[in-house]
Amino acid sequence: MQIPDTMMALQLTGVGMDTVEFREVEVPRPDPDQVLCRVECAAACASDNKIIDQGPEHSLMHGWDPAKWPVTLGHEGCVTAVEVGRNWEDKIRVGQRYAVQPAVPSAPSRYRNRYANEGRGIRKIAVGYTLPGLFAQYVIIDPEVIACSCLVPVPDGSLPHFACALSEPISCVVAAQQHTTHVVKESPDTPRRAHLGLLPGGTTLVLGAGPMGLWHVEIAMSYEPAAIIVSEPNDARRETARRFFATRARQAGIELVLTTPDALEHVIADVTGGRGVDDCIVALGIKAVQEKSFDYLGVGGVTNFFGGVKADDRMISVDARRIHYESISVVGSSGSDPSDIAETLELLAARRIQPGNYVAAAGGLDAARDLIEAVRAQRMEGKGVIYPHVRRPLAEVESWSAQQEQEMLAGT
Ligand SMILES: NC(=O)c1ccc[n+]([C@@H]2O[C@H](COP(=O)([O-])OP(=O)(O)OC[C@H]3O[C@@H](n4cnc5c(N)ncnc54)[C@H](O)[C@@H]3O)[C@@H](O)[C@H]2O)c1
Repeated sequence: MQIPDTMMALQLTGVGMDTVEFREVEVPRPDPDQVLCRVECAAACASDNKIIDQGPEHSLMHGWDPAKWPVTLGHEGCVTAVEVGRNWEDKIRVGQRYAVQPAVPSAPSRYRNRYANEGRGIRKIAVGYTLPGLFAQYVIIDPEVIACSCLVPVPDGSLPHFACALSEPISCVVAAQQHTTHVVKESPDTPRRAHLGLLPGGTTLVLGAGPMGLWHVEIAMSYEPAAIIVSEPNDARRETARRFFATRARQAGIELVLTTPDALEHVIADVTGGRGVDDCIVALGIKAVQEKSFDYLGVGGVTNFFGGVKADDRMISVDARRIHYESISVVGSSGSDPSDIAETLELLAARRIQPGNYVAAAGGLDAARDLIEAVRAQRMEGKGVIYPHVRRPLAEVESWSAQQEQEMLAGT
């Protein structure tokens, strides 16, 4: 493959949206301990806006100033190795596709002088932050990314690039649901055992039907609950949930109930015969909703704080008597591990998740800035995907498929 001398990249060159620039930069070539990858597809995430607004203050920037050392944005994506430094030749194969796990649990190996305190004490860095990001035609992969297994091989050659790119956000949902544990006892005279994940045969409640809430519904179905209740105030989003899941839930023998926050307590009483739900997933970041979620739980129920709240809202009240007498509990998680991405890629390869449903916009690399602005303005009803080797304005789509991806790449 002919690797050009220069490429286009979307870079943050300061703080704020005005400093997000589509620029021509050199294509870096790998040292013996680096790998050069071609970026096949990258997706935008709401958290791209956090680094844009916070710059060096962002917790994953560790003081690195993008005004001095511009950073290439983008942390969800699918890449192909095109040039492998000799130290990785036994591990990384030219032509192999990888999904990127952006959160790298490591100290930085390079540019330590650019970090506060010379990088001392750093335990986590990230692709699309201080490590080169994926809104670019090529990306250099540093040794810590590979050493931490954060390039996850794509197992199925027929999986479209966008599906592999979306494996990262979906994997956060897979990981979150595996943070729930139920203490199960079949009868009074049998021993207790721990069940990892949502309770099979129970009632799962998902609060919020944004893109992440919808993925929670999708992954929750694999635990075979008897019922899934989705609470969402936005009519269009409830309708989307109905469109995606009504038929599949019926076929799987799962009762799917869509409701609004106002009617929720009534609905829970109805669906559970007054017992309360076994699992609640709070797929939004609102303190009042987190607090209220305990009220929906039945005995032994678990609420899962998937969305984080802002620092000022971090203290909540919980009824300690219900923890004591009814064994309710709370868990939470943020992000995922490479193993979660590998598991998600397997689910995608087995066609157990339909990623195309969640794509609401697609475009070439020149559309990446518009996409980030659309996410910032909450104009997106799903994910937006970018093909770095194509120049195309952002187009809204109902859904996305392998065939549409091929047409986009072929320029038709
Ligand atoms: N834990 C992780 O690893 C992880 C990963 C990605 C995103 N997140 C977080 O997940 C959350 C959801 O992400 P998203 O992109 O779907 O967000 P989103 O803002 O698009 O969706 C949230 C939804 O909640 C609805 N809502 C508001 N008030 C409600 C209420 N009282 N009851 C029920 N629904 C209500 C909104 O109408 C909206 O549709 C965010 O907080 C995000 O930061 C967490």
